[in-house]
Amino acid sequence: MDGSELIRFDRVTKRFGDHVVLDDLEFTVASGKHVTLIGPSGSGKTTILRLLMTLLKPDEGTISVGGRYLTHEERNGKLVPAGEKHIREVRKNIGMVFQQFNLFPNMRVLRNITEAPVHVLGLSKEEAEERARELLELVGLTEHVDKYPSQLSGGQQQRVAIARALAMRPQVLLLDEVTSALDPELVAGVLDVLRDIAHTTDITMLCVTHEMNFARDISDDVLMFNEGRVIESGSPEKMFNDPDHPRTREFLSAVL
Ligand SMILES: Nc1ncnc2c1ncn2[C@@H]1O[C@H](COP(=O)(O)OP(=O)(O)OP(=O)(O)O)[C@@H](O)[C@H]1O
Ligand SMILES: [Mg+2]
Repeated sequence: MDGSELIRFDRVTKRFGDHVVLDDLEFTVASGKHVTLIGPSGSGKTTILRLLMTLLKPDEGTISVGGRYLTHEERNGKLVPAGEKHIREVRKNIGMVFQQFNLFPNMRVLRNITEAPVHVLGLSKEEAEERARELLELVGLTEHVDKYPSQLSGGQQQRVAIARALAMRPQVLLLDEVTSALDPELVAGVLDVLRDIAHTTDITMLCVTHEMNFARDISDDVLMFNEGRVIESGSPEKMFNDPDHPRTREFLSAVL
């Protein structure tokens, strides 16, 4: 919450074959801030989040979180590709919620949430369950703790996925269109939970969403992506009411 730099993309290039998706991309996010990524389909928003989750590796450039390189490490003063152990350590600081909730279908709600804290962080089962019950209260699902994901609505499943990500106490929460697979009447409940988290915790949020009212409510900064770069950024007031860049204006007039 101290406003120091938490995430840094330093001249990151990511290609798929000949297709340059991120092109010498630079941006930073300060600790505790809520940043929304907007931009046309295919502009690389999900790719940025997948790089942060270390599901992908950059072709060039470096990404750091909390002053530590994600996929590189320093050995004898040189920057070399990081080993799995280093990547696992840094990734513990980052949680992600996907469009498709990706819950473990064979585990009840409680175990979905306790699994990683027990196996990755080494919490005792009791500690993990206590933490899980607190989070289920936060997301309004206390009475569903013993259900399987298939017995829940999409909105409830997504709230479990949010609780599961938070159970790792990450410094950063990545949200990729987390309401776009939901029936319209279930969207508000999930956004309310996320608003609550944004307003009551000091977690840093990086969010891709088409819910512009939500983005307006929670964002400190909005970054507009186009052709692999940030072409404009600013407060939600500035970006949604009076953007400078013609491409931002064109994009927003199509989605607002
Ligand atoms: N694994 C992959 N292999 C090949 N191309 C990929 C892969 N992942 C993404 N791409 C391509 O990279 C580009 C950026 O994709 P990305 O999913 O990051 O876009 P996005 O901004 O999230 O779009 P949307 O708003 O539609 O979700 C797209 O052109 C996509 O086809
Ligand atoms: Mg995407």
